[in-house]
Amino acid sequence: MVLPTPAPADLEDLVAAALAARERAYAPYSDYPVGAALLVGDGRVFAGCNIENAAYPATICAERAAVATALAAGARDLVALAVIAAAPEPVPPCGLCRQVLAELGPQIVVVLANTAGERRLTSAAELLPGAFGPADLRPERA
Ligand code: THU
Repeated sequence: MVLPTPAPADLEDLVAAALAARERAYAPYSDYPVGAALLVGDGRVFAGCNIENAAYPATICAERAAVATALAAGARDLVALAVIAAAPEPVPPCGLCRQVLAELGPQIVVVLANTAGERRLTSAAELLPGAFGPADLRPERA
């Protein structure tokens, strides 16, 4: 399915939603709150924030939290994702999040942002070229 690329103003709205979600982060260990907002095909926006854990590897990133919320609500057509943190540069998603986006939304527009107002526009495919995917696991699904 080919989905329309959102207008810059809509992407900035998405960054604002990600910034609001960042306020709800549970990040007592890193003190590095991250917010994400995911736009899906029917116009709904799903928020996510990082949720840390005393058992550190159990931490969930903001991006994957937003994706999980969207899919649990029945959305499959992911259009655009904004992610924001107080980072020196627009926050780059971790490898796990890149892998999840590559599978569920290779077409997705990704806006990386920081609280200093910097933005970087990219895509899930650009974030993880050569990703291992469903077709590698089962060629008949390609
Ligand atoms: N984190 C995210 O939620 N998303 C990113 O793109 C980068 C990292 C979180 C994980 C952890 O809670 C904290 O930021 C520090 O790594």
